[in-house]
Amino acid sequence: MANQRAKLTWTEDQIPVSGQFDDPYYSLQNGLEETRHVFLAGNDLPARFVPGFRIAELGFGTGLNLLTAWSAWEASGQTTPLHFTSFEAYPMAPDDMARALACFPELAPWADRFLAHWTGAACTLETLQFEMVQGDARQTLPRWNGVADGWFLDGFSPAKNPELWGAELMQQVADHTVSGGTAATYTAAGFVRRGLAEAGFTVTRSPGFGRKRHMTRAVRA
Ligand SMILES: C[S@@+](CC[C@H](N)C(=O)[O-])C[C@H]1O[C@@H](n2cnc3c(N)ncnc32)[C@H](O)[C@@H]1O
Repeated sequence: MANQRAKLTWTEDQIPVSGQFDDPYYSLQNGLEETRHVFLAGNDLPARFVPGFRIAELGFGTGLNLLTAWSAWEASGQTTPLHFTSFEAYPMAPDDMARALACFPELAPWADRFLAHWTGAACTLETLQFEMVQGDARQTLPRWNGVADGWFLDGFSPAKNPELWGAELMQQVADHTVSGGTAATYTAAGFVRRGLAEAGFTVTRSPGFGRKRHMTRAVRA
């Protein structure tokens, strides 16, 4: 399954929907605000940003989460690179990323800079050290040598993409998180929360974005 391109359809609002998983890439209500609520605030960002901070992500998709985090990193005054590693099995074509990201004009300065340098693997800019690890995260994450201070767990919904939320993968997430590090996700599915708890995270439910009642925040002991 590795190295296959994402298959997409588009809503009238230009939100990409996965043909492989029959699920939109982000909230139909407001993807940017969802990312800020779930992944930034869910990991206590930007408050925890310090030079050398490392974010890792399951599911790169359009790059919306990356660009939202990177723009917050710069806005918080950081001048060294944010380290961001994302695991992705079905990379999107850059033209599709650009089409999706055009809906978020606020992010245009970061989207333009990123897409101008992005060749499909690693990408180094003054304030960003980015790497996409291609392939099924169940195979690639166990081989990853890095660790993260904060995780963005952003697979498609657990009902449609259960392989990205299983207990073994949550253990791998924990094993690749520093002590005191965090993870956040939009879902509050019981099996995901249990998997994170069994892997060594202290897990809490907090208010979700938009129509979602709950989301999940996790802190590694
Ligand atoms: C909800 S989308 C991610 C949205 C993204 N974070 C963004 O900012 O646009 C979920 C992503 O997980 C990827 N994915 C699904 N199963 C995977 C797997 N087993 N390993 C790695 N990536 C996977 C999909 O291809 C998709 O890009």
